Amino acid sequence: MATRPLADEIQAIVDQYPERRSAVLATLRLAQERHGGWLPPDALREAADALDVTPAYCEAVASFYDMFHLAPVGEHLVEVCTNLSCALVGAQQVLEAFERELGVRAGETAEDGSVTLRTIECAGGCGRAVVVAIDHRYREPVRPEDVPAIAEELRGR
Ligand code: FES
Repeated sequence: MATRPLADEIQAIVDQYPERRSAVLATLRLAQERHGGWLPPDALREAADALDVTPAYCEAVASFYDMFHLAPVGEHLVEVCTNLSCALVGAQQVLEAFERELGVRAGETAEDGSVTLRTIECAGGCGRAVVVAIDHRYREPVRPEDVPAIAEELRGR
């Protein structure tokens, strides 16, 4: 089955909102999904056209929210929450375990493009810290000893 053009999909989202610009988050999310996990200038332009705003408006919104990426990310995205609740129960050790296992530093993408490792602000799961998002799905709680199995799982995907 052929997928609909992005512009049509965006229009379907926009139609659900009383004002076009109110659909900005849903539109950017879809555009990011369709552009390999990040928002290149073409994606921002396409979203802006559909919303009847400027690409700069879309970029400003995207730059505010942690879940949008304005630079390419790896095939897999590993995000470790390092905010207070997670920090208190070992987020730094979890992050370092991912750096060791994935061979990439926090904030970087592996040379082969397989994975991006980054830190994030509070993911809203403080009661089950340390929270790690693997390709946008939460794992919680994650301990340093859990990391080798998660890394192995990512290599197998
Ligand atoms: S501080 Fe990590 S989920 Fe809230």
